[in-house]
Amino acid sequence: MSFLEDVDVDAAREPEPFRMPVQWVNRPHQDFRGFSGTISAGIVTVGDQVRIQPMGTIAHIQRIAHYDGDKNAAARGEAVTLVLDREVDVSRGAVICSAQQPASVAERIEAHVLWMHESPVQPGRQYLCKLGTATVPAVITKISGKIDVNSMQQLTTEQLEMNEIGICVVQFESQIPHDVYTTNRHMGGFIFIDRISNETVAAGMIISDVSIARNITWQQHDVSKATRSALKNQKPGVLWLTGLSGAGKSTIANLVERALAAEGKHTYILDGDNIRHGLSSDLGFAAADRIENIRRVSEVARLLTDAGLIVIVSLISPYQSERDRARRTIVTGEFIEVFIDTPLAECERRDPKGLYRRARAGEIRGMTGIDSPYEAPSNPEMHIETVNRTPEESAIMIVEWLRTHGHLQA
Ligand code: ADX
Repeated sequence: MSFLEDVDVDAAREPEPFRMPVQWVNRPHQDFRGFSGTISAGIVTVGDQVRIQPMGTIAHIQRIAHYDGDKNAAARGEAVTLVLDREVDVSRGAVICSAQQPASVAERIEAHVLWMHESPVQPGRQYLCKLGTATVPAVITKISGKIDVNSMQQLTTEQLEMNEIGICVVQFESQIPHDVYTTNRHMGGFIFIDRISNETVAAGMIISDVSIARNITWQQHDVSKATRSALKNQKPGVLWLTGLSGAGKSTIANLVERALAAEGKHTYILDGDNIRHGLSSDLGFAAADRIENIRRVSEVARLLTDAGLIVIVSLISPYQSERDRARRTIVTGEFIEVFIDTPLAECERRDPKGLYRRARAGEIRGMTGIDSPYEAPSNPEMHIETVNRTPEESAIMIVEWLRTHGHLQA
């Protein structure tokens, strides 16, 4: 018998840290508030300090209620209701964890993804992801390779077909508590569900966090956004001009900026073509790249509104879900979605950069409106049809909208 066979693997293993994904908030009457779920790892004892992820709140366990009475301790596999020693805002999807070794929290993870749908993965398409007891919108932003199931070798690819296992970066819409699959399969395994058909299209196993910035705090400065905007005598905001290439976004953005500058207003234009020369010079036009481009522009727009500016974004931004995400990035009431509505036929007729002609000739792949989708806004603040309007008239409509909505005074 070899030495290895003598080793008691379970005894040698580190005790697993406590995890209980919250299934529901149990509030039968005013005086009782508990969090119910099944313990997915470790043990919990009355008095233990816990950390509730993703919020990071610290509390102590006051009671462990069980179907046959209160307990002093409970372990993996048991369904319990935990009562904490203080009021905390916990909802389904949160995870009550050991305070010393809490679950990681990230918006982005790397995972092995088994793709189960007959059409290949479309990076950037949004699905509902179920992980633990949480259900969150998520996208696969990047496929960095796949596993050859026969040799278990990693192969380079950017495509993932049915029954293939890819190494993918998954971006969630919010911060998600999780563990890596090898330490906790309940907290490290997930599925992707198609929002329309309800089909399960993928199963995944988390390999690692791709959290970039950790251990950072927000620095407060003395001069506030309110001071900066008051100095400029205006209310900051983001005019988000979306529409097909050639719809007139940049022309209208330029005229709006001129009109605002003439009134002494402080502005800045973030134009897709220009941004792609610098900040987004590493990005192309695949769905994942467009999503990243939109994310970067919305973060910059948010910073510029914090500087007190009226920002004019001119970006095709073809996906509704990404424009909605940009809206959530910007302070409520400051995101103004403007649909520059020019029919494809008219954009093709204008074809200012000759791109449509080249796309029709097969020289450019993935041209928006030709072989890449454009999702028209479902509920924009402004809908401007350009066909029977001059760019000047469209610009005036936008400036007047800003005036009536109080943006042109502090
Ligand atoms: S977005 O989709 O990521 O929002 P963005 O507005 O930055 O696009 O860039 C669009 C500009 O890139 C267009 O105005 C056009 O000049 C150029 N372009 C080059 N290739 C494409 C393509 N395949 N689809 C759309 N625009 C393209």
